[in-house]
Amino acid sequence: MPQPALDLLSASCEVEVNEEDRVLTKAELISKVKGRDAVLCLLTDTIDAEVLDAAQGVKIFANYAVGYNNIDVEAATKRKIWVSNTPGVLTDTTADLAWALIFAVARRVVEADRFTREGKFKGWAPMLFLGQDVTGKTLGIIGGGRIGEAVGKRAQGFAMKVLYNDIVRNVEFEKATGATYVDKETLLKEADIISLHVPLLPETRHLIGAHELSLMKPTAILINTARGPVVDEDALVKALKAKQIYGAGLDVFEEEPKVHPGLLELDNVVLLPHIASASMETRTKMGLMAAENILAVMKGQVPPYHVNM
Ligand code: DGY
Repeated sequence: MPQPALDLLSASCEVEVNEEDRVLTKAELISKVKGRDAVLCLLTDTIDAEVLDAAQGVKIFANYAVGYNNIDVEAATKRKIWVSNTPGVLTDTTADLAWALIFAVARRVVEADRFTREGKFKGWAPMLFLGQDVTGKTLGIIGGGRIGEAVGKRAQGFAMKVLYNDIVRNVEFEKATGATYVDKETLLKEADIISLHVPLLPETRHLIGAHELSLMKPTAILINTARGPVVDEDALVKALKAKQIYGAGLDVFEEEPKVHPGLLELDNVVLLPHIASASMETRTKMGLMAAENILAVMKGQVPPYHVNM
């Protein structure tokens, strides 16, 4: 946890930090939440009914993330426990990383780096690591929220046409990005680069599967900085192997931290260990926000970034 967040909490609370550099087991989590007033949890901590029942006295689970699919919010609400998140502060950092993946895949940056390190660079050559242009292409954004909007805004700098899809139209999104609302099928068929920015919900699980991949162009690039289960990884591996699409950039995985073995064998995919919000500045802001949520509840106030009650 970035020090400023710990300092803020420590000024008025007794703080115990999990020093293990790994995800706690369910049993450990249950024993750790007992007797606490508040828990600052990570997206790797599954806060289900069993953990909530053990959390006698806990008034808030302050998630250190904008996504909170790791918490059973309904069960927390039933038990009158606050759940909070860290919206807004990681929007630009996440959008930047989505763009890093776009360029890494389109211009084969990682493959070319490996090639150079392996001493294989023998001189400039007309056909060496030919990738795809990004400028002037069509970007398809699935998920018209804050992060999707930040990704769309950046596309203007690359003279791109932007399409987007969500369950409803978002006029503010359109104003900010110049994007056109289309149905999902049109987006999948027309976009050169498809970037996912939806939360993980029952309705968004496997939003991209074999059928959706079959609609994409053979030159299409798929980017996922949202949540792993939004993409059916078995189907993606098949599509990438068969060169049904050009490539993919993934910051998240279906069964994190496990990575589908099929993905590890492929050159046309760039794999990152869920680092979209990982800048010093952003992780510090996220920590401060989580701390503010906790401190508000400790004072009997409503946490500023609550997602329930
Ligand atoms: C989030 O906040 O939900 C990201 O996945 C991690 O920062």
